[in-house]
Amino acid sequence: MKKILVTGALGQIGSELVEKLRDIYGDTNVIGTDIRKRAGQSDELPFETVDVTDADRLYSVAKEHQVDTIMHLAALLSANAEKKPKLAWDLNMGGLVNALEVARELDLQFFTPSSIGAFGPSTPKDNTPQDTLQRPTTMYGVNKVAGELLCDYYYNHFGLDTRGVRYPGLISHATPPGGGTTDYAVEIYYEAMKHKAYSSYIAENTYMDMMYMPDALDAIIQLMEADPTNLKHRNAFNISAISAAPKDFAKAIQKYIPDFTLSYDIDPIRQEIAESWPNHIDSSAATKEWGFKAKYDIDKMTRAMLEHIGYKVDS
Ligand code: NAD
Ligand code: SER
Repeated sequence: MKKILVTGALGQIGSELVEKLRDIYGDTNVIGTDIRKRAGQSDELPFETVDVTDADRLYSVAKEHQVDTIMHLAALLSANAEKKPKLAWDLNMGGLVNALEVARELDLQFFTPSSIGAFGPSTPKDNTPQDTLQRPTTMYGVNKVAGELLCDYYYNHFGLDTRGVRYPGLISHATPPGGGTTDYAVEIYYEAMKHKAYSSYIAENTYMDMMYMPDALDAIIQLMEADPTNLKHRNAFNISAISAAPKDFAKAIQKYIPDFTLSYDIDPIRQEIAESWPNHIDSSAATKEWGFKAKYDIDKMTRAMLEHIGYKVDS
């Protein structure tokens, strides 16, 4: 990886990934792109407005900047995809196949994230294996499974160097999440700081995998830099750092804000999605094949989140 184009670069992951890539590979070697216009950043740093459903535009920007890697992040997340399933199909599948075609035509390395959403109610819920049943019941899940298969297809049939991870819910403070089922795990910190209270749309005992953003960014770079001869899997690796339910976040927050209270007002759509996903996936294939290891557990992440959003944490 020497020159990288990132799609969906203004989103929750992209906004931090672009910064991190620029620190490692150099400011001018990372081309941020998004359907939205960038606001409030230096015009000297490369950024292009690109709608990933416009294949010609994506191709010409990749060619013009002579990139050697695409990190394809533009997508509609799980809760929004349930509201607009046709748009989700067009963006999540149409954008992906366009990005893969650009990578094939220009011979680029390729990364795109899958998700815990690629699993469904018939998948084993605990220690979910790397290779297992994938019959998701959401449009997002259908897109993610098809996307994994498509990326493997491009690897097997065209020799394209495609790699991916199944991200859990990501928790971060730089850019708000974009309409997923796990967004509560970000909102809870802001509400704890502002109101010492949060009403969760996910039920008390519903466990899902989670991860703090620095671990998620390290994972992309580690996987993309990994020796390909060590990779038995490609699209996509299970990775997780934390398995938690809303009550676990409350307990972690109460260590710093003892009078924080958690109540529940369940959203049936997001609750149904959450219940169809695993409690805890097994990341051992990622650890074995490219050394994945998360640094943040729920306590370390809670302290970091509260500090970053401006809560004074006593040392
Ligand atoms: P996000 O919703 O925060 O950002 C998506 C970005 O894509 C936005 O900036 C949006 O403007 C842009 N976009 C939308 N339509 C576009 C189009 N037609 N062309 C170009 N850009 C467009 O999403 P995210 O959380 O950063 O997720 C990025 C990827 O990671 C997605 O594939 C998502 O499924 C996956 N993922 C995210 C999480 C998570 O918790 N954030 C977990 C698992 C997987
Ligand atoms: N955080 C994502 C979502 O809830 C997981 O893919 O959609």
